[in-house]
Amino acid sequence: MPNLKCPSCDLPLSLTDNTWQCEAGHRFDRARRGYTNLLLAQHRRSRSPGDDKAMVQARTAFLDLGRYQPLADVLLKALPAKPDGDWLDLGCGEGWYSEQFASQLGAERGVGVDISKFAIDAAAKRNKQLTWLVASGARLPLFDESMARVLVLFTRLFTDDIARVLKPGGELIVVGTGENHLMPLREALYEDVRQSGFDAGKFLDDRFALIDSEEVQFEWTPEDEQELQNLLTMTPHHWRAKPSAKADIGKLAGKVMPAHFIVQRYRKQ
Ligand SMILES: C[S@@+](CC[C@H](N)C(=O)[O-])C[C@H]1O[C@@H](n2cnc3c(N)ncnc32)[C@H](O)[C@@H]1O
Ligand SMILES: [Zn+2]
Repeated sequence: MPNLKCPSCDLPLSLTDNTWQCEAGHRFDRARRGYTNLLLAQHRRSRSPGDDKAMVQARTAFLDLGRYQPLADVLLKALPAKPDGDWLDLGCGEGWYSEQFASQLGAERGVGVDISKFAIDAAAKRNKQLTWLVASGARLPLFDESMARVLVLFTRLFTDDIARVLKPGGELIVVGTGENHLMPLREALYEDVRQSGFDAGKFLDDRFALIDSEEVQFEWTPEDEQELQNLLTMTPHHWRAKPSAKADIGKLAGKVMPAHFIVQRYRKQ
């Protein structure tokens, strides 16, 4: 299991009887579901930061349909077939991808971190062997140069802390959305569709060297309005779009929807 550090004092944590504890006496109970909340109240900007329960449930319902499996398959191909060090899925959400990464990278070597306790609670239901933590990507409760691999899917890049926890030569894999992603949905929601593809390079510096960049594109046909509403609710469009436009997306059921992702791999220098 990856070593965890105390969010209060940076000493190592050890697990006894479902409680993580450091030598200075800071204690963090592991919830019955199997995750641990290491987010200190003073590091929380709101009472429940991150994705809320409805967003998490929508993401689970959508991802469990398997529509994004072609993306997961590309990622699995880019990963070693066997465990080769500790790894972190940062902003892991409800763990649909993390669980698949664990099948190759080893659940016992993996950490899933998300600031949303609803997301981590759902993730812990998927897999009991992974270490699931409620924590912020800006203050990871992990030691310097301890991770062989960090994966960041559709989540803000916390460059400094990612650089800190990655081993020299370790790998950062970042996934964002390309310009064609969900185009009919975006056209239905906005008058002016913003046309920009993701580039992790904008957020990284010379501590990271690009290994390769791959575009992943495929299409599927959303079956019904519920699927489209779930898809909408799990994306930032959920916050941005006007309610009247959101109410109208059922018309896209039965029509082809493009998915467009950018997968970038970096080596920590
Ligand atoms: C778009 S979701 C992606 C979830 C998952 N990677 C996936 O692709 O299914 C972004 C996630 O980042 C989490 N998040 C937001 N701010 C965060 C932070 N400061 N630290 C860690 N996670 C954060 C949210 O709670 C949410 O689960
Ligand atoms: Zn401590």
